[in-house]
Amino acid sequence: MNTNDRHDDVRSYYRQAARTRGAQPGNDQRWGASRYDHDALAGGSTTAANLSMGCGNPYAMADLRPGETVLDLGSGGGLDVILSAKRVGPGGKAYGIDFLEEMLVLARANAAEAGVDNVEFLHGMIEDLPLPDGSIDVVISNCVINLAPDKAPVFAELVRVLRPGGRVAISDVVADNGAVPSADDDWAECGAGALQHDQYLAMLAAVGLADATIEYTHDTGPDRHGAIIRARRP
Ligand SMILES: C[S@@+](CC[C@H](N)C(=O)[O-])C[C@H]1O[C@@H](n2cnc3c(N)ncnc32)[C@H](O)[C@@H]1O
Repeated sequence: MNTNDRHDDVRSYYRQAARTRGAQPGNDQRWGASRYDHDALAGGSTTAANLSMGCGNPYAMADLRPGETVLDLGSGGGLDVILSAKRVGPGGKAYGIDFLEEMLVLARANAAEAGVDNVEFLHGMIEDLPLPDGSIDVVISNCVINLAPDKAPVFAELVRVLRPGGRVAISDVVADNGAVPSADDDWAECGAGALQHDQYLAMLAAVGLADATIEYTHDTGPDRHGAIIRARRP
């Protein structure tokens, strides 16, 4: 399958999720709102939590500080953007990027429900970010990079928008070294496109990110793990 077909598949899968407002893939302990503690969710939007489709909680791992500017790659229903906006406060800002207009509409409504206005949801591709160089303090993402058919432009763009000294806290599915995706795996369900552990570190290093670590938080399937990936731009 070529890159455009992959993107079309992912779009149609998540467009359906936006229309049904149903968290996919699955509503179990591996995915979605179950990865957040109740106190954190209480500060967000119930609707955004119900639509949460991540594999972790990058916002909790990002150690956000008041006044910082945060970018969430593939922001979906907007939960991590909303929680980040509350943490960075009125002097800071949280951006979400998603390639589906349907998701952006929901995310904006969810931000209004949560009462945050230091947020902006932008239409765009994580492979071609609509933001200037060096404009972001912290890049977060929750279960989206594994969906990209070609990861190199995603990491190149992530570094371009990060300011020197900026940091990365990404939740993603990571495969064991040598793992072979099953032919039955649906790419859009977060797993088939997962980078292997050492490939992930190599891709972060290739774009100049430093101090990269991958910490497994839970298993998401055979040879695959929900993980938090941290790195910083020197
Ligand atoms: C698994 S969902 C995760 C959503 C959100 N991060 C969360 O935790 O609920 C993937 C999201 O990323 C978006 N997405 C996938 N590939 C993308 C791409 N290449 N560029 C922009 N958005 C993308 C989808 O539209 C969808 O909203």
